[in-house]
Amino acid sequence: SVYSASVTAPVNIATLKYWGKRDKELNLPTNSSISVTLSQKDLRTLTTASASSTFKQDELYLNGKLESLESARTQACLGDLRKLRSELESQDDKLEKLSQFKLRIVSENNFPTAAGLASSAAGFAALVYAIAKLYELPQDMSELSKIARKGSGSACRSLFGGFVAWEMGDLENGQDSKAVEVAPVEHWPTLKAAILVVSDDKKDTPSTSGMQATVKTSDLFQHRIKEVVPQRFDEMKQSILNKDFNKFGELTMRDSNSFHAVCLDSYPPIFYLNDTSKKIIKLIHKLNETEGEIIAAYTFDAGPNAVIYYDEANEAKVLGLIHTYFNQVDGWSKADTSKLSKLEIEGTDPEIYKGVSRIILTEIGQGPQITTES
Ligand code: DP6
Repeated sequence: SVYSASVTAPVNIATLKYWGKRDKELNLPTNSSISVTLSQKDLRTLTTASASSTFKQDELYLNGKLESLESARTQACLGDLRKLRSELESQDDKLEKLSQFKLRIVSENNFPTAAGLASSAAGFAALVYAIAKLYELPQDMSELSKIARKGSGSACRSLFGGFVAWEMGDLENGQDSKAVEVAPVEHWPTLKAAILVVSDDKKDTPSTSGMQATVKTSDLFQHRIKEVVPQRFDEMKQSILNKDFNKFGELTMRDSNSFHAVCLDSYPPIFYLNDTSKKIIKLIHKLNETEGEIIAAYTFDAGPNAVIYYDEANEAKVLGLIHTYFNQVDGWSKADTSKLSKLEIEGTDPEIYKGVSRIILTEIGQGPQITTES
C-alpha cells in the first residue's frame, strides 16, 4: 500500500532581511530576520508526499517535472525527517517502517514560475511539512522550521502565518536557529501586499553566492549585522505588536535599502534593483510625502520585483496611485478599480509602466495547511 499526505505552504516576504550565513551547510544566518506570510489563495506550494515499499527510489516532481533530489540541501531535510520517524518506530513496533520506504514527492505552485517570485521558501516548507505529516511527527512548527531552514534559510519562516521572526541563535549546531510567530494574521488582518513583477532579462546572482560574497568583501556589512539589524529587530517587532504602519513601513523600507546597500558594497558589487525598481521606490516616497505619513512601504529581495505593503484603510490611495501608472499590466481583474482614487504624482515618468509585466494583489495569510487536494 501507499501512504500519503498533502499540505500547502505559503510564500513569505521579509521586511527585515536575512542576508549572510555564519554556517553554509546548516544555513545559519548572521542576523535575525522578520517576514510577513502572504495569502495562499494567491501564492502557495501544494505538496503530496507518499511512501511505499514498492517505490524503487526517492523521487521529486516539481510542476510536473522530475527533479534531482541529490542536492545536499534536500538530502539534509529528508535525512532529518527519516531520523525522527525511525525514532518513533523504535519506540512503537506497531508503526509501519515508513522511514525505510522510498519517498515520492509531488509539488506544484499555483503561481507561474515565470512570475519571477522566489518559490524555494514555500517549496521547502511544504516538503518538510508534508513529510512530517506523512510520518506523523509532532507538529511543532518551530522544530520543523529548523529542518526547512537547511533546505533554504528563508523557508523556515514559511512554517508560520502572519508575522514571523527567524531567531538567528548562537549554537554551532543550529538547534536554536528557528522561526517563531511574532503575531498571527488575526492580529492585523488588514495588511495587504501588491507585488509588481518587474521584467528583467539578466540573471541575478543567486542569493547563496551573493551572501557569501557580501560576508567576505563588504565592510558596511559588519555595521549592518552588529549595529543596525539587532536594534531594528526589536523596533520592528514592537511596530507590528502596535500595528503602527508608519513605523513598520519606515523600518521595512530602510531595511530593504540597507540590504541593497551591502550588496552594492560587495566587491565586485551585486545589483538586484534595476531602473524600474528605482522608479517604484521614488513613486512610493512621493506618495508618502504627499500624504504626510507613511501609507505604503516597498521591499525588494534578490531581484528587481517590488513588494508594496499597505493597510486596507489606504487601499483606494495606494492602489489608486499604482493603477494610474500600471493600469495596463495583467492582474487588476481582482480589484474594483472604479473605487480607486485617481492619484498622480507630478514629475513622475509616465513611461514607468513599461518595466512592469504584472501585478499580484494579495494580503497577509495563514501558515501551512493540511489538505485533501492532491
Ligand atoms: C533576499 O533563503 O533564498 O530573500 O538560505 O541560500 O537558500 P538560502 O537563501 P534564501 O535567501 C533569501 C534572501 C532574501 C531575504 C530574505 O528572504 O530574508
